[in-house]
Amino acid sequence: MTETKLLSVFPTVSAPSSQPQHSEAFDTYRHVSTSTAIASTLATLEARSISAWFGDRKVLDQVSLVMEAGKVTSLIGPSGCGKSTFLRILNRMHEMIPTAALAGEVPLDGQDIYDQGRRITDARRDVGMVFQKPNPFPAMSIYDNVVAGLKLSGQRATRGEKDVIVETSLTKAGLWKEVRDRLRQPGGGLSGGQQQRLCIARSIAIRPRVLLMDEPCSALDPTSTRVIEETMLELAHEVTIVIVTHNMQQAQRVSENCAFFLAAQGQPGGIVEHGKTEAMFGNPVDSRTADYVHGRFG
Ligand SMILES: Nc1ncnc2c1ncn2[C@@H]1O[C@H](COP(=O)(O)OP(=O)(O)OP(=O)(O)O)[C@@H](O)[C@H]1O
Ligand SMILES: [Mg+2]
Repeated sequence: MTETKLLSVFPTVSAPSSQPQHSEAFDTYRHVSTSTAIASTLATLEARSISAWFGDRKVLDQVSLVMEAGKVTSLIGPSGCGKSTFLRILNRMHEMIPTAALAGEVPLDGQDIYDQGRRITDARRDVGMVFQKPNPFPAMSIYDNVVAGLKLSGQRATRGEKDVIVETSLTKAGLWKEVRDRLRQPGGGLSGGQQQRLCIARSIAIRPRVLLMDEPCSALDPTSTRVIEETMLELAHEVTIVIVTHNMQQAQRVSENCAFFLAAQGQPGGIVEHGKTEAMFGNPVDSRTADYVHGRFG
């Protein structure tokens, strides 16, 4: 039933030519109405029976998870089990990949981000993403990096408003004090940890309701990692956070809820167990979860 719902929208298995139109989607992104209200209230993000394919290979099977409003949910599991794919489905990036298909629903505050009437731009504005490798625009100034997302999502702001957004976003990302005197210098001149915080500032500048983070600290030193973890705990009061991490200590430090993904050999990935992080690590129900969180595989 739901399994086939979106295949007609994003078919891949048998009809790759009817993939979503990439350029069209990006055009819409550029021209989204400036009058659209900026969402900022806390929202619960839900995944209902999510399945995903690359070509005819199924990589996720019927994954369901509630990511509670105002909390950090961590996604853990061995390499290749579908965590990043799952994350990309949560902000409609998956469909930009040629050959990709999916089924299921992703309600944000009860409204499916894949509803026919909903624009891809709304999903991108509501659900931001921070990647493993910091990706600021290197030649662009720190200031312009922070406000870059505003333009992309069609939001106009006066110079004064931008000044406020830049200071607020950099403060929330834990970077303001370090860069306040060099806002006009290029983003590429910052350290790796600072660049990642700049990317977080850029994401939160458009006031998303959910922030997805795919191994945001895996390329960073322990000090930068600690600063970003503190930032996440602060941000969780105003934005729902979902983080993929291979660092079991990090999952325990930052997340209240946790989901353990696993794919058996040659099989699509799924969630073995999910719940409170403390219980998942302290008293897991499934022996595979126990083995993984205790480092016996993966
Ligand atoms: N663009 C793509 N085209 C084809 N197959 C892909 C693509 N991206 C991912 N896959 C496949 O989908 C499966 C899930 O990959 P995914 O990157 O989601 O795993 P992951 O859990 O994030 O792994 P890791 O922990 O190594 O980042 C893997 O088998 C992978 O090879
Ligand atoms: Mg990944």
